[in-house]
Amino acid sequence: MQKIRKAVFPVAGLGTRFLPATKALPKEMLTVVDKPIIQYVVEEAREAGIEHLIFVTGRNKTAIEDHFDVQVELYETLTQRGKTDILERLQAMQPQPGQISYTRQQVPLGLGHAVWCARELVSGEPFALLLPDMIMQSETGCMKQMVELYEQTGGNVLAVEECDPSQTHKYGIVGRGKDTHSGFEITEMVEKPKPEDAPSNFYINGRYILQPQIFSLLESQEQGAGGEIQITDAMLRLHAEQPFYAHIYRGRTFDCGAPEGFVEANLAFAMERDEMRPYLTRFLKGVLKDG
Ligand code: UTP
Repeated sequence: MQKIRKAVFPVAGLGTRFLPATKALPKEMLTVVDKPIIQYVVEEAREAGIEHLIFVTGRNKTAIEDHFDVQVELYETLTQRGKTDILERLQAMQPQPGQISYTRQQVPLGLGHAVWCARELVSGEPFALLLPDMIMQSETGCMKQMVELYEQTGGNVLAVEECDPSQTHKYGIVGRGKDTHSGFEITEMVEKPKPEDAPSNFYINGRYILQPQIFSLLESQEQGAGGEIQITDAMLRLHAEQPFYAHIYRGRTFDCGAPEGFVEANLAFAMERDEMRPYLTRFLKGVLKDG
């Protein structure tokens, strides 16, 4: 079985749910406490043993490249000022030369199309796919949990969580088959089904391990829901040829693509920090009392 060495991060979307914040700033660079959203997702990938990061970017996304670049003047200034703690933090998150690649999706035709744009860089290996607007909070990262399952099953692995059954129209939903290890075999997949048509209430939460055959299917994939080329439609075709397993993710997920999830993420990650928790607890108690 081939190790999962590469991860794809599609960051070419327009972020319309977060306007006006995302008019000039990529949503992936909005900060949760003191780190951009994209940094959380990259750290999750690295914890899972990913060696090479592949970003599918678009216009107005150069801030993401700058974030992962060496900032010589900044590092010199921090050294001169003796700010070694923060300097070490910045250097630790710095990918080594050659460990990060960027390609552009010139027109945002949908998530499936964005993934297809990474085909040459993935170059025939199974790979991880992480949607950067979903950030996770758990003792063991979601992708690491998935790699542990993948090492037992091979094939394709999707992380899933349960949603309110009335909300299936917002997600990619999977059908539940035989239980296996930390999840179950996937019997079917449907993009944004109405509750009455949904095969379950397990939704795909934005983390995937996929075999490279997905690329040839994406190449011929027609537009689906919302007029976009959908990864779920191509996965459904791949499912006719290869097994798909669901890993039931143990942890919390925040959809930072929309303001509510972003605010929740800020609160949850701030409450994890010892230096912020007492102040924030007092503040929130006050807000709740006044409200
Ligand atoms: P979303 O639909 O959540 O992101 O796509 P969006 O299009 O940026 O946001 P809204 O809906 O307009 O607010 C999920 C992920 O897929 C990427 C997005 O950047 C996001 O990380 N994506 C989506 C692309 O890279 N290209 C696309 O054409 C569409």
